[in-house]
Amino acid sequence: MVLPIYVYGQPVLRKVAEDIAPDYPNLKELIDNMFETMDKADGVGLAAPQIGLPIRVVVVNLDVLSEDFPEYKDFRKAYINAHILEVGGEEVAMDEGCLSLPGIHESVKRGDKIRVKYLDENLVPHEEVVEGYLARVMQHEFDHLEGKMFIDHLSPLRKQMIKGKLNAMLKGKAHCTYKVKTVGRK
Ligand code: NI
Repeated sequence: MVLPIYVYGQPVLRKVAEDIAPDYPNLKELIDNMFETMDKADGVGLAAPQIGLPIRVVVVNLDVLSEDFPEYKDFRKAYINAHILEVGGEEVAMDEGCLSLPGIHESVKRGDKIRVKYLDENLVPHEEVVEGYLARVMQHEFDHLEGKMFIDHLSPLRKQMIKGKLNAMLKGKAHCTYKVKTVGRK
């Protein structure tokens, strides 16, 4: 089922998300719905707060990038109780967008090497070092679990430049091709 994506201004996007228990009800269905919602919106990642749930669940699809990055062929993964343990490597700037910030694309600097821990879809625990594009996507998505969005990384000047778009979202205006839930609208 495709779910509406919560847009900037929704308080859930600013909450620190909680770990879930292994018996969290209908987890498989939730993950399936998150994949479907992300695919419908042509996203490469989606975090549970973006569908209104303050829990630490993220889905990522890098298969869409496999033309440029062959190593990501068939890469579709869910991350449960995900946490970043360490950010390092070289600081790299790259354009980012977010399904909860339609129409905004800005350059964001992030380290290109991280250490993360999470449970996979079968609730098997992993701790690994991740590099490159995936490290960027994970930082963007896992930021959502801390109540952060990519615009928080921008300089005051860049923030000023996008203020009009952000204010429009706070008034319930969001122009995009997928179903959204803005503040003040059902
Ligand atoms: Ni995002």
